[in-house]
Amino acid sequence: MLDLLLKHCHLPNGRTQVDVGVQAGRIVAIQEALDAPAHQVVDCGGQLLTSPFVDAHFHMDSTLTYGQPRVNQSGTLLEGITLWGELKPHLHQEAIIERALQYCDWAVARGLLAIRSHVDISDDRLLAVEALLQVKKQVAPYLDLQLVAFPQDGILRSPTALINLKRALDMGVDVVGGIPHFERTMQQGAESVQLLTELAAERGLRVDMHCDETDDPMSRHIETLAFHTQRLGLQGRVAGSHLTSMHSMDNYYVSKLIPLIREAGVAAIANPLINITLQGRHDTYPKRRGMTRVPELWAAGVDVAFGHDCVMDPWYALGSGDMLEVAHMGLHVAQMTGQAAMRQCFEAVTSVPARILGLNGYGLEVGCHADLVLLQARDPIEAIRLRAQRLAVWRRGQLVASAPPAVTTLHLPGRPSQQTFQHQLR
Ligand code: FE2
Repeated sequence: MLDLLLKHCHLPNGRTQVDVGVQAGRIVAIQEALDAPAHQVVDCGGQLLTSPFVDAHFHMDSTLTYGQPRVNQSGTLLEGITLWGELKPHLHQEAIIERALQYCDWAVARGLLAIRSHVDISDDRLLAVEALLQVKKQVAPYLDLQLVAFPQDGILRSPTALINLKRALDMGVDVVGGIPHFERTMQQGAESVQLLTELAAERGLRVDMHCDETDDPMSRHIETLAFHTQRLGLQGRVAGSHLTSMHSMDNYYVSKLIPLIREAGVAAIANPLINITLQGRHDTYPKRRGMTRVPELWAAGVDVAFGHDCVMDPWYALGSGDMLEVAHMGLHVAQMTGQAAMRQCFEAVTSVPARILGLNGYGLEVGCHADLVLLQARDPIEAIRLRAQRLAVWRRGQLVASAPPAVTTLHLPGRPSQQTFQHQLR
């Protein structure tokens, strides 16, 4: 007896009208016309059933703080960092927990069930670390929260950052972070990459660094990150976040760099909403987009994910936890408008970040966790186009969020009243 039988699903891999059977929190069957008794049967009516969205890059300690203690007037990255510094001494654990839990609610409602969040360890009290470790435990039944120890003020630039980072890892933070382009010199940036990758290798941890989040074409810490990843045998366990300087680099140099990134098995995480708004701020016209070279990295075989990065915080006033909005922006900024490229943009917010996070049991295959999202769209491209309604979200086979289909009734002069389901062609 199945717990749940989902009939007439379209899948992201292009299969249509298939049924998915769920038992004891796992997918036990995917086939056409599955005829098995089930406690609950849902007719998905040809809509898209997908694995949940995964956000590979987020900041949960600062989310939903927009306007505290003041708004970012210039809207720049540097004013955002200054503003975050002003806010940090006033942070309270309860407030961080409350905001993070609220964001996780938003995430679940959007079918976003796994998030890698950086947590700033520059504050000696490690309030945010304690708070997010508690949140991680609290949300575990419905959302995978992976934490990265992030030295926002620089691991070498800030006198207590290294001690704090090690303390955070001892407390249970999962991943080693870094910010080499924010260290005092290029040399110190390179030293920080070496130090942090060695620390990760020693402790058997993954690495995810804010790397080259700048318009400076000479900011080349990604090269150093790839080098040490290779040297220390960390292939498949390291990600470079942002990599925006690659947008501005010399093409010849990039033709050497991308194969090195591929060889080292380093993943790339672009953050389209944030990169397009924060980069290129010193340019007049033409203004650079600032997002890393997504299609080229993808073509070389590098794992590329799109992250949300910020929602209503010192750096970004917008956002709602909608990874389809992230994919939509990424698709436009990277000019990934071919059919295959648009589908890749969907993968960049689902299966690819799942691989980067190392999520066990993720996927739409027999044996995987029954973590599923039913979208009001028939395929991944339509899902991105419409930022489709999340009709149902299941975690381990249990319904954790649901929403009615988006329907509008039109009352047009000279026309009979009619209902329209979002903007889908019949
Ligand atoms: Fe970030």
